[in-house]
Amino acid sequence: MPTINPVKGTHDIIADEADVYAYIDYAFSNVAASFGYRRIVTPILEHTEVFDRATGEGSDVVRKEMYTFLDKGNRSVTLRPEGTAGVMRSIVTNKLYATPDMPLKFYYSGSVYRYERPQLGRYREFRQIGVECVGEDSAYLDAETIALAARTLQVLGFQDVKLKVNTLGDKASREAYKEALRSYFGGIIDQMCPDCHERLRLNPLRILDCKVPEDQELVKDAPKMGDYLSEASKQRYQKTLALLDELAIPYEEDDTLVRGLDYYGEIVFEVHCISPEGNDYGAICGGGHYEGILGTFGGPQELDVGVGFAMGVERVYSLMKELGLIDNLAETIDAYLMPLGEQAVDFAYRLADGLRGYGYAVEAPYKTGKLGAMFKRAERKKAKLAIIFGEDELAKQIVQVKDLATQNQEEVPVSGLPQYLADHLQEDGEGE
Ligand code: HAM
Repeated sequence: MPTINPVKGTHDIIADEADVYAYIDYAFSNVAASFGYRRIVTPILEHTEVFDRATGEGSDVVRKEMYTFLDKGNRSVTLRPEGTAGVMRSIVTNKLYATPDMPLKFYYSGSVYRYERPQLGRYREFRQIGVECVGEDSAYLDAETIALAARTLQVLGFQDVKLKVNTLGDKASREAYKEALRSYFGGIIDQMCPDCHERLRLNPLRILDCKVPEDQELVKDAPKMGDYLSEASKQRYQKTLALLDELAIPYEEDDTLVRGLDYYGEIVFEVHCISPEGNDYGAICGGGHYEGILGTFGGPQELDVGVGFAMGVERVYSLMKELGLIDNLAETIDAYLMPLGEQAVDFAYRLADGLRGYGYAVEAPYKTGKLGAMFKRAERKKAKLAIIFGEDELAKQIVQVKDLATQNQEEVPVSGLPQYLADHLQEDGEGE
């Protein structure tokens, strides 16, 4: 039988790696909660128009990368390519805006799907953790959202990341800038890649993001957003940067940063980190301020602003691994039981259950074996203690407990085991 591999661009996440993914999610949830966010879980499958309307038909994500198909009822549905659109749809569907307590603050995590060419750090199914803060327009919120991303990365152990920021200005500034880009690139478009021809038509801002080296050269001389910004947008941007300074969050201004999705206006940002081995997995976080998404679903105009970001969990994980940030995260167990003899196996089965009732992570083999093999197994499972007993011990209702780090061994009465574990594991700061 030929083996079946996972679909191209998808991957299995197993054991230690899966634990780290859960840890990233947990650490992020705690940080988000500390900023007043609540979790939201929206469907992975949405009507295609959710993304057509919100994410923008001019973006590569919507034009080329969506997993869209007709369901059995002939409805066009799409596997979400990002989290923002679904959250905004949900806010309108559930009238979550019907509250005086603005802004709405939601965080999420889950799989997203993009039909991209798989390469280092780029998958077709990947996971995002992200936030959306909706209904209030403020430089404070923009800066706070960036602070939330920075805090998450700090909690995960990152020390050296590069935060890039730019402003796309308000709508009028953006339109004026797009016009300037149209006329500049219009004159040289014949020298540019076929994608840029399309970008010029749909959204010339996107050309600034082109990865073709020859095109990047031409982008260098293009008009700059700064020259087209309204006074209000300039001030708002400066205010946000001043707030980042106050929070001691370092950043770098990059006037070619335009982001790949259509809904952004005013500040946009990305976080990058080159690994110690020189690998560039791409941005680990991207986000910014947006307007006009709620309205595309019929939501109230006066609340139609937001700011948010999403991080790619695969990229965060790969970097954490290379940076040695997950070495101490591997699952351990408190005790591995080592029964010597058939009767002891029977007892181990009940003892494991009893100790788990006290909250300890305990494992035991289901048949007896050689002591040496059991020690090797305990080591592989990163057990802290080995609890060893044969029929002689059981007759006396005692067990031998060996600390696998110090190799100290002590005789402990079975009835005193829960207390012994509490004392002993507590000493390492590891108890219940
Ligand atoms: P995005 O920049 O398209 O933004 O994606 C966010 C993050 O997802 C990226 O920074 C990257 O870490 C990760 N990512 C993107 N594509 C891939 C891929 N093919 N494989 C692995 N990781 C990937 C958004 O999705 C916006 N919804 C963010 C946002 C929320 N803006 C406002 N609110």
